[in-house]
Amino acid sequence: MKAYITAVAHYVPPDVYDNHWFSTFLDTSDEWIRERTGIRERRFLREGATSDMIVPAAREVLAQRAMQPSDIDCIIVCTVTPDQFFPSTAANVQRKLGATNAWGFDLNAACSGFVYGLWVAAKLIEAGGARNVLLCGADKMSSIINFEDRTTCVLFGDGAGVVLLEPGDDEAYGVQDAIIRMDGEGGQYLYMPAGGSLRPPSYETVANKEHYVFQDGQTVFKAAVVGMAEVSAEIMERNGLSAETVAWLVPHQANLRIIDATARRMGLSKDKVMVNIDRYGNTTAATIPICLSELYQAGKLHRGDNIILASFGAGYTWGSLWLRWAIERTQV
Ligand code: UT7
Repeated sequence: MKAYITAVAHYVPPDVYDNHWFSTFLDTSDEWIRERTGIRERRFLREGATSDMIVPAAREVLAQRAMQPSDIDCIIVCTVTPDQFFPSTAANVQRKLGATNAWGFDLNAACSGFVYGLWVAAKLIEAGGARNVLLCGADKMSSIINFEDRTTCVLFGDGAGVVLLEPGDDEAYGVQDAIIRMDGEGGQYLYMPAGGSLRPPSYETVANKEHYVFQDGQTVFKAAVVGMAEVSAEIMERNGLSAETVAWLVPHQANLRIIDATARRMGLSKDKVMVNIDRYGNTTAATIPICLSELYQAGKLHRGDNIILASFGAGYTWGSLWLRWAIERTQV
């Protein structure tokens, strides 16, 4: 048995902020942001929480399969911006959807959340621990970015992507293999200093702006270029995949230069690489499922396509996952 993605959808907030908007209050420019990152615009959620972006995408996923919320038996929410520390955002999604038969949990692997989550969900299904898993990658990054810090605030956006996973009998389809890594030594280069048990919220932490993303961009950049390219090349090698037999690279969208380096290492031409960072920026755990959803909506995913997902993020966490697409859009 393998786990198949049988439906996919996404939600992005309607409010668009282009690069010029930042230059009205920060020393930055459209040119700098575009050239260094590939980002042109991003979307920010004005009101509501991470779960409010997940719910519309989840409803669409259920509609694609003509399923009821009560058909879901597990909800996994990959996020670094949960609605609250507890209860889990998964519990909030369960309540808002009315998915009365579902258990679930949040998973924090930052930008690698969706790759981690997909591997966990696939193994859960293969082991018989769940049948219909709703896997969500979602982040409201605008809730944790410091709009006075030009080195981070221009990079991120808000959004959600949701897939439904179901068991499938033909082992040649669905989630096939993954190489998943973590290196806690990288934690110091991309993190939120306060708010947790290490530094609980206080007047001081708020005054010092410690409840926002801190990133040593250059250090993370170097680690990401090496890490994401390495695991992506390795997963191709150990599964006998070639540039010809891979249909799509669906990479985490943090920086176009990191994506290009990964594609080069895999020998893939640009037309096989999904890129939407120009429109959404880095939506952390949401980038990969939003990419999958847009590819699917555009009719660009076909049964049997070899797809490589690749990510790198805080932790450090990184990984690459190979799946063979199991459905045709005409079936839904
Ligand atoms: O998704 C999770 C993982 N995260 C990543 O993968 C992100 C990895 N890092 C990056 O993508 C890049 O390092 C950044 C896009 C964050 C930065 O690009 P960079 O080419 O590494 O620039 P830099 O940090 O070396 O900064 C170069 C210059 C600096 O000025 P000086 O010191 O040379 O005078 C910065 O102060 O650019 C300056 N700078 C800016 N200038 C205009 C930094 N941010 C901005 C800005 N506008 N927004």
